[in-house]
Amino acid sequence: MSRVHVIDHPLIQHKLTMIRDKSTGPKDFRELVNEVALLMAYEVTRDMLLEEVEVETPICTTKGYTVAGKKIGLIPILRAGLGMVDGVLELIPTAKVGHIGVYRDPDTLKPVEYYCKLPGDSEERDFIVIDPMLATGGSASAAIEFIKERGCASIKLMCLLSAPEGIQEVQRAHPDVEIFTAAVDQRLNSHGYIIPGLGDAGDRLFGTK
Ligand code: PRP
Ligand code: URA
Repeated sequence: MSRVHVIDHPLIQHKLTMIRDKSTGPKDFRELVNEVALLMAYEVTRDMLLEEVEVETPICTTKGYTVAGKKIGLIPILRAGLGMVDGVLELIPTAKVGHIGVYRDPDTLKPVEYYCKLPGDSEERDFIVIDPMLATGGSASAAIEFIKERGCASIKLMCLLSAPEGIQEVQRAHPDVEIFTAAVDQRLNSHGYIIPGLGDAGDRLFGTK
């Protein structure tokens, strides 16, 4: 079963509360989501490999470390995943960004894929799939499945809010994928929305409702 990491740093909890607040408008919502994404990325990449190098300081030569190993690929799930990309890119500016379009059918709550464009060197990268909301887990599981079919083997999932149902579904479908989330909420309502959640992430990011 895949591991779940709840990244509940005080700054993240503080910003998450502002994100949840229904009176937070799209501009602040977007900024806060990106800020939390940046802070989370720090933990999501904690296991990056390092290699030893020699560095000359103004005083002497010493041992240092640089990031080595596979390069990073980010894959936001359209559309709400876009809201976290810039924050992660601030920390990892050399990451390549693929996109996967999946929406949740409002009646069946089943995921529908409509777009996929990944970096050409997918086999050589460690991927972070990004979506603010893990509700039923259908969208994330389907996105990860599509990405695996296209040759991506190393995948982590990064979300702002998760429902226990969504975590369970991703763990069932993809036990190899580690999940990083800023909070695990109570449950889903009958429309598949996370309680207490933050409402519809895509609509709040892009002001479409
Ligand atoms: C939201 C969210 C996730 C999905 C989560 O996207 O961004 O992708 O729902 O729900 P699930 O875990 O039950 O699949 P939505 O389908 O609303 O599309 P949007 O990002 O285009 O608004
Ligand atoms: N998608 C959202 O944007 N919000 C939820 O609570 C569930 C799915």
